[in-house]
Amino acid sequence: MTQDELKALVAQAAIEHVVPGALVGVGTGSTVNHFIDALAKIKDRIAGAVSSSVQSTERLRRHGIPVVEAAALDKPLPVYVDGADEIDHHGYMIKGGGAALTREKIVADLAERFVCIADESKLVDTLGRFPLPVEVITMAAPQIARRFEAMGATATLRLGVTTDNGHPILDVRGLKIADPLALETEINQWPGVVTVGIFARHKASLCLLGTAGGVRTLRF
Ligand code: A5P
Repeated sequence: MTQDELKALVAQAAIEHVVPGALVGVGTGSTVNHFIDALAKIKDRIAGAVSSSVQSTERLRRHGIPVVEAAALDKPLPVYVDGADEIDHHGYMIKGGGAALTREKIVADLAERFVCIADESKLVDTLGRFPLPVEVITMAAPQIARRFEAMGATATLRLGVTTDNGHPILDVRGLKIADPLALETEINQWPGVVTVGIFARHKASLCLLGTAGGVRTLRF
């Protein structure tokens, strides 16, 4: 199976975790695009979606799926479905390769469960091979980059990219993230950091992993 076929497979499997009659939180990315397409086939059985990006909102609306603003929620979402750039054996993730990390973390925070959908290439022992995305306030970017350099890493601005919130992204290479919770907490303290792409406080509840042998379910 190709990587794209594996993504479609796990996206379809995630439909079983969607709660009938409820809103569903929807992430961003190529795997989630398959999920949105699968969701369209059961759109009459859900109340609608809460989206994590302009890109996903447009795709949901094209399918006629109602999109509800996150700020309008008055109770938790039962489930949030999203991809990952890396996921480890504890359900900790790196996200933000598609620059949607801030809204993804906000919608994940509104949900009771995070269902991660990913092909098996995303499963790692230690997070950090994928460059860590960090959304920052522009005037703080050089100082934040220096802090990463002091850790032995290299932070570069993602050229030509601003997020849905109008901020740049730093991509940080050379980190070996042995303690994702501690590093997420530390980076969150730095002035000018909007969101760090470590999802440890908002880790996956389960991961549907696409493998050559079918869908493998990892529970955390
Ligand atoms: C978007 O900013 C990311 O967090 C995505 O969820 C992540 O990059 C996974 O994307 P793919 O499904 O395209 O690999």
